[in-house]
Amino acid sequence: MQIKENFPLRLYNTFGIDAKARYFSTFTNEDELYELTTHDSPKESLRTRLTTFILGGGSNILLVKDFDGLVLKNEVKGIELVHEDPEYVYVKAGAGENWHQFVLHCLAHNWAGVENLSLIPGNVGAAPIQNIGAYGVELDDVFWNLEAFHLFDKKRYTFTRVDCEFSYRDSIFKSKYKNEFAILSVTLQLKKHPVYHTSYGSLNEELEKMGAKTLSIKAISQAVINIRSSKLPDPKEIPNAGSFFKNPEVPIAKHEELKSQFPDIVAFPLTKLSVKLSAGWMIEQCGWKGYRKGDAGCHAKQGLVLVNYGKATGKEVYDLSEQILQSVKNKFGVILEREVNVI
Ligand code: FAD
Ligand code: EPU
Repeated sequence: MQIKENFPLRLYNTFGIDAKARYFSTFTNEDELYELTTHDSPKESLRTRLTTFILGGGSNILLVKDFDGLVLKNEVKGIELVHEDPEYVYVKAGAGENWHQFVLHCLAHNWAGVENLSLIPGNVGAAPIQNIGAYGVELDDVFWNLEAFHLFDKKRYTFTRVDCEFSYRDSIFKSKYKNEFAILSVTLQLKKHPVYHTSYGSLNEELEKMGAKTLSIKAISQAVINIRSSKLPDPKEIPNAGSFFKNPEVPIAKHEELKSQFPDIVAFPLTKLSVKLSAGWMIEQCGWKGYRKGDAGCHAKQGLVLVNYGKATGKEVYDLSEQILQSVKNKFGVILEREVNVI
């Protein structure tokens, strides 16, 4: 547990932004985390309290400047079957486990529920932060509880599903308790007998294309992997952080008004009173898809994904996101919200 100074973070964020952390360390268990956060600062001579940032796989952050504090990379490992009953298994995973490797582990054991969430980058511990979701399933659907260490009062707490206040790309850890807790482990309630979720349009099409004779969690996972690989840029090749913005929710009346002006607008029903608009479609209509200025750009196959072609700074990517936001607001009167955590 060595604390490093002026630590380069380029390899620790999937946007590949070249920013530094004033201090950096990893931790593999609660005791190490306790020790790292108990001193006012890692240097006895410094008396100021350092801002602490818990880092996972760095796949949902944009570093707009050097981080003047302590970055603690969560490397708590382990996957354990903690309980089972005739219907469910309860599986606990360390926050530092890679999410997709965890999904593969579940598939290998025939534990159902996370197959639609295949290939999402990042670690298990970050999954509850924004209630990860894809292809018709959210973490919320399989979540049982989590254990988290409070960075200020240094105690461990258990959060149930209700406590987490999950909603679309959001939880209590992204709002009220932002940067207060380090999640140590997450326990999911997975099914022994699968219930398949295949209603997401492109998923159905892909399963048909694959000619999967009988549906299975492995076939669904493969279909999701195929779709994702075909349109989302691999951060190892073109650094990015997935969808940069959320898909905005608007009242039915606003949707009707937009539809009369833009008959092709892409929207998904949400509740009786609201719909979700495709931010990617609106960004594309504003002419941003495939746009590039310097090394910051908007991906050619997915307007929602901003990319770094090499040496873009966090500020350049942020400025591009601001331009996109303004143009969508001007054309559609809709204000996009960033999904990525700007640090
Ligand atoms: P980081 O980027 O390291 O951290 C994100 C936030 O969580 C930060 O605020 C950080 O402080 C906090 N955090 C991380 N770990 C902990 C912890 N243990 N305790 C407390 N706080 C913590 N997301 C989706 O929901 N659906 C998708 O389909 C999807 N597709 C993506 C595709 C690509 C190509 C990429 C690059 C990203 C995609 N994402 C998607 C976003 C991202 O993968 C998820 O948000 C993921 O959960 C982030 O995990 P991470 O470990 O990299 O988190
Ligand atoms: N579309 C366009 N142009 C674009 C992008 C999308 O017209 O450039 C339209 C198309 O009609 C397309 C529809 O929007 O059929 C939906 O696109 P897609 O299936 O790619 O989904 P998305 O809304 O762009 C969301 C999530 C993704 C998640 C997928 C699959 C958000 C912000 N993004 O993207 O999550 O993987 O659905 O469920 O909700 C992420 O959060 O980082 C992420 C990648």
